[in-house]
Amino acid sequence: MPFGIKKLSLVGKTPVEYMPTLSRELGIQLYFKRDDLTSWGAGGNKLRKLEYLVAEALQQGATMLLTVGGAQTNHGRLTAAVAAKYGLKCCIAAIDEYPGEVSANILLDRIMGCDVVLKSDDGRDENLQFDELVAQLTAEYEEKGEKVYYIPMGGSNALGALGYYDCAVELTEQAAEMRLGDARVIDAVGSMGTFMGLYCGLKNEGSPLRLTGIAISPFGEYKEKRIVNYFAEMKAQFGLDIDAVREDFDIVKDYTRGGYNNLSREVRDAVCYVAQKEAVLLDPCYTGKAFAGLLEMVREGKIAKGEKVIFLHTGGFPGLYTRHHREAFEAELLDGVRIIK
Ligand SMILES: Cc1ncc(COP(=O)(O)O)c(C=O)c1O
Repeated sequence: MPFGIKKLSLVGKTPVEYMPTLSRELGIQLYFKRDDLTSWGAGGNKLRKLEYLVAEALQQGATMLLTVGGAQTNHGRLTAAVAAKYGLKCCIAAIDEYPGEVSANILLDRIMGCDVVLKSDDGRDENLQFDELVAQLTAEYEEKGEKVYYIPMGGSNALGALGYYDCAVELTEQAAEMRLGDARVIDAVGSMGTFMGLYCGLKNEGSPLRLTGIAISPFGEYKEKRIVNYFAEMKAQFGLDIDAVREDFDIVKDYTRGGYNNLSREVRDAVCYVAQKEAVLLDPCYTGKAFAGLLEMVREGKIAKGEKVIFLHTGGFPGLYTRHHREAFEAELLDGVRIIK
């Protein structure tokens, strides 16, 4: 428990697994850190953040968790899972349309008893729309007697990122036991909490592991500023003994493939490749996109032959069932289904 901050125990140690076939075919030494194998609500990275966030919610006497995201949000699904387990109410608010291509997660959210609010995009600044929506929903629920604890998008504030500080410590120990030296850790970067927690944990604890993030959506001016401010928040809040400037954060921006959660031939190929070689299911929004990036980095020599790479599998497989992804996969794969009448 870094910095003496209270946390729930939702995750435990996740395995680091060697990927023999992919390693051989790619000419690298590839390992997966299996954060997809966390137990609740179909698993994934957000549980580590929620260990801290929900501990604080309970400490404050909250009766309800409110969070925001895209309708696809895996973070929302796992917030719903933790809420269910702790007997809290939960609401996920997204700016998205329904019916549409939105999300397979919404069904899981509803099965776990979570309210889902979808607000149409009115074209104004998204952050402003979210702020207004959160204020409106908080007022509505509080009028009904709930005490609302708000969790920002992706659980990505300083407190949430501590979950990945812990993961960095855990992974450093595992990598040392497995003699992985200064292996490169690769993760998908969305709202940046996973990357920032890992970065701070690795650096502050003097780990030899190196970190590369692969952005899964365009990394523009807002994110450029946010990443620097995010580090400053971490340093100030937890008194970290390290400094960093933007250039210290190795974030690859070349493989966003046009946008968040969009369809991509390369991502579908990457998902099928990993499933067919190692029986591990990636997702089409985050881990599949990051892995497609990893494959190109190998091809382009940005990952050296023989390099040790630990790919952080952050979960998200329900996204395979989101309508537009499912239909694209089916269009390509269903001709391999033999129908016998
Ligand atoms: C499956 C999956 N992987 C990776 C990420 C990215 O994590 P972060 O938002 O902390 O950058 C997310 C975020 O929602 C996710 O759901």
